[in-house]
Amino acid sequence: MVFFHQYFLIFALCTLYVESANPIAQFCNEFSYTITPELSQNIDSVLAKLIQNTPQTGFNITDFGDEGKEVNGIAQCRGDVPSQECTACLQTAAKEAKKMCPNQVEALIWYEYCFLRYGTRNLIEDDDMGFRVVHYNVEYVTNPRLFKETLTGLFERIRKVPLEPNSKGFGKGEVKLSDSVTLYVMIQCTRESDNTKCERCLSYVEGRFKSLCEDKKGCRIIYSMCYVRYELYSFFFGTDKKLSLVNSSMANYVVGKP
Ligand SMILES: *[C@@H]1O[C@H](CO)[C@@H](O)[C@H](O)[C@H]1NC(C)=O
Ligand SMILES: *[C@@H]1O[C@H](CO)[C@@H](O)[C@H](O)[C@H]1NC(C)=O
Repeated sequence: MVFFHQYFLIFALCTLYVESANPIAQFCNEFSYTITPELSQNIDSVLAKLIQNTPQTGFNITDFGDEGKEVNGIAQCRGDVPSQECTACLQTAAKEAKKMCPNQVEALIWYEYCFLRYGTRNLIEDDDMGFRVVHYNVEYVTNPRLFKETLTGLFERIRKVPLEPNSKGFGKGEVKLSDSVTLYVMIQCTRESDNTKCERCLSYVEGRFKSLCEDKKGCRIIYSMCYVRYELYSFFFGTDKKLSLVNSSMANYVVGKP
């Protein structure tokens, strides 16, 4: 529960964004146990199990190792992503997580299509809201008032959808702003979190929309328990153009536990 408290998060700052190749958020816990060959092997085993087990339902929790050396893992794919792409995403995520955190036993990595996390602690009990990454489009909308109203309305309309039993923690929606412009919004809650945690996370996001995303053409807010994104182009699976972040910038926010 005190995982992120007082810790500094180190992110890779990327100037060029490639949707499929680069993670949208990543974290190595520098303060986790020192890696040993046994723990490293247990991480490998957990990752292999997650890649194997997750695509079927889009979500899995597993562990591996003897008591005291046990590694826990969680993996999830975005709710609209088919199993084949889920597998591909998790394979990349597993490889990159170990590469970016070679000496740590705890890692968290988000891609657009999947999410992966492992460590020796009980990850499910960790409901810390200290981990946050924001990406936003550097351009502004032309009609802020209409945009704000529409975004708020759409967010309110879909925010309960991830709480429904068969939603895979995923909700999406779209609204036309004009004849040629459509707003697309997506919410993804991590499925290990219960509805209360999902709702709490979404309240956090809602509260920070104004300061972090106000009037921006596109924005993504990533917490360890939920991920919210809106754009003026479709990024839903099957319609995404994969290079639509042309004029975007990444801003990384490093915060302690509130
Ligand atoms: C993870 O996958 C295994 C094997 O398919 C399955 O038995 C288990 O119930 C899954 N766990 C979760 C939390 O979905
Ligand atoms: C990006 O921004 C530049 C300068 O504001 C503009 O000329 C260009 O058209 C923009 N590109 C896209 C894809 O929006």
